[in-house]
Amino acid sequence: MVKVIEELKEKALQRIAEAKNVNDLNEMKAEYLGKKSKLQEIMAKMREFTVEEKKAIGMKANQFKMAIEEAINKQLEKLKDDEVNKKLESELIDVTLPGKEFSNGALHVLTKTIEELEDIFIGMGYSIAEGPEIEEDLFNFEMMNLPKDHPARDMQDTFYITEKNLMRTHTSPVQARVMLEAKGKPIKVVCPGKVYRRDNDDATHSHQFMQIEGLVVDEKITMADLKGALTQVFSKILGENTKVRFRPSYFPFTEPSVEVDVSCFKCHGVGCPLCKGNGWIEVLGAGMVHPNVLRMAGYDPERYQGFAFGIGIERLTMLKYGIDDVRSFYVNDPRFTKEF
Ligand code: DAH
Repeated sequence: MVKVIEELKEKALQRIAEAKNVNDLNEMKAEYLGKKSKLQEIMAKMREFTVEEKKAIGMKANQFKMAIEEAINKQLEKLKDDEVNKKLESELIDVTLPGKEFSNGALHVLTKTIEELEDIFIGMGYSIAEGPEIEEDLFNFEMMNLPKDHPARDMQDTFYITEKNLMRTHTSPVQARVMLEAKGKPIKVVCPGKVYRRDNDDATHSHQFMQIEGLVVDEKITMADLKGALTQVFSKILGENTKVRFRPSYFPFTEPSVEVDVSCFKCHGVGCPLCKGNGWIEVLGAGMVHPNVLRMAGYDPERYQGFAFGIGIERLTMLKYGIDDVRSFYVNDPRFTKEF
């Protein structure tokens, strides 16, 4: 009998060690230790054995119980550990993976140009003024010497909001606002901002763009002051030896009016694709403030003179950075912004 129990134990231990789940183990526990187990069958026959045999069988039976219980508990632990390990493995976080980078924005290149210009002008004693983008016809046109039926209004077709109000077509109306506010005192300002025109967008036209207006009013202001100021500004922005050239032009709010060219900063006047071979690049319009404009804003043109200019921010930025399509400023692609 002792041998039978021994064999039974060996077989049981092997099965327990191979058990794959808790249910199987519970079944095995009942099978080997329960009331209907083989062991119980043997015990039921104890009467048939001698005292010596009873003692030996009893001992074996106890060992058997203990061994089976221990094996089952051990296997239960193992199954639990396996499960936990499996879970850990499936939920594994790889801390060596690179993290998600939060990208920083960058200043828009138009903002950079404006800030650069503002810094230069402030350094030359100018202050900064602003005006509304929804402007009155009065300031945008009338006070800029463009009365109702003036043909030059056609060049600046725009979006009218009412009879009286419109999206400003240029930053020049800020001139009139600043002059009214200064009440006859000398003026030295630049006015940056957005302007609007009814235009079909293409590589060089945009229905919305930016300008920076300049206005200096004082006694004894001449065109030489205008040329000196612009030469100083452009040699700071485009390179030290940049020259400035005036060509006669027409604007209703200046007399005389000029178109201003700068010497090509790429080829220094020799001729290249940027300046289309002629060594000069047109960058702005300017002139001496028209007596009518001064008068309407409360300045006596016999005593006061002024110069004014309007620089297109997009055009200057395109030239400076070699950008070939004005629309790229307004599509909000962060890759474009980060390039500069
Ligand atoms: N306002 C003009 C435009 O948008 C630009 C301009 C020309 C402004 C001459 C001026 C100036 O102040 O004197 O086309």
